[in-house]
Amino acid sequence: EKIYVGVDVGGTAIKVGICNADGQLLHTYEGPTEASKGTDTILQNIAKYAQQIVTESDFSWEQVDGVGVGIAGFLDIPNGIVKFAPNLKIENVNLKAYLEQELNKTVKVNNDANVAALGEAWGGAGKGIGHCVCYTLGTGVGGGIIIEGKIVEGYMGMAGELGHMAIVPDLEAIQCGCGKMGCLETVSSATGIIRMAKDAVERGDRTSLSSVEDIMAKDVLDAAKAGDEVATRIVNRAAYYLGKSMAMIAIVLNPQYFIIGGGVSKAGDFLFDQIREVFEKYTQEQAKENVKIVAATLGNNAGVVGAAGLILRG
Ligand code: BGC
Ligand code: NA
Ligand code: ZN
Repeated sequence: EKIYVGVDVGGTAIKVGICNADGQLLHTYEGPTEASKGTDTILQNIAKYAQQIVTESDFSWEQVDGVGVGIAGFLDIPNGIVKFAPNLKIENVNLKAYLEQELNKTVKVNNDANVAALGEAWGGAGKGIGHCVCYTLGTGVGGGIIIEGKIVEGYMGMAGELGHMAIVPDLEAIQCGCGKMGCLETVSSATGIIRMAKDAVERGDRTSLSSVEDIMAKDVLDAAKAGDEVATRIVNRAAYYLGKSMAMIAIVLNPQYFIIGGGVSKAGDFLFDQIREVFEKYTQEQAKENVKIVAATLGNNAGVVGAAGLILRG
């Protein structure tokens, strides 16, 4: 029996999965990315965890038909090069060549949010939906555009970098990890939400968050749900720019679904209702018709399934 290894490299964790030929996820494994230790450590961790999951399973390395990798960054997909990963601080690394050398298997590399979108389109919220645009709200804001069932990669592979749309007006903009000002990611990622909360606490704004030791995005979302005004303002802002970006994308691509995943999306209806309100406000009526904004359903596994699928369905 052949197996397919999928690796999802995020800012915080590297998730690995083994899929069978039907795309069923049989095993998962997770380890820290250790991004702060530098590029070499990240690369070694990817190779290490990919081997480890197979060792831990009942399968043998010989059964591995290929390794698919989704990684958070701007890529040259055909060549498997990570051109620039703002949250991993990797620049111009040929990940495909490195892993093929280390693992002695066929390796395919794609963007983390692209593969998550593919996973959702195959077996998750977008099943049977040919046109969908996915957002992942985590360390960064990822994007994956699926048209007629396929990832839109663009000329080199950098399409769908939704998190770096410069959507925040100059007067309110701050610098993004990518170096530019006012990216969606600066306000709608977990990192952005945490930053806004910490700023508010430092400014001395009256908020229940002042008593929280190490503020996480979930704390801010929970505080907003509980009616905290400062937290509400922050979550509103994150939702506002997401909704507005969707209005713009709807007019350009006419998708059927917007699918939202990643840690922040766990806030559920509370967040989705706010996004939907803004989306409807700004979207032209015809473009709006029939568009649904839905939650990702594969949760943490969308990335590994989609990554394995790069080999399986590639
Ligand atoms: C990166 C993307 C990635 C996203 C989510 C962004 O900062 O530029 O490539 O998909 O974070 O991880
Ligand atoms: Na993408
Ligand atoms: Zn940016």
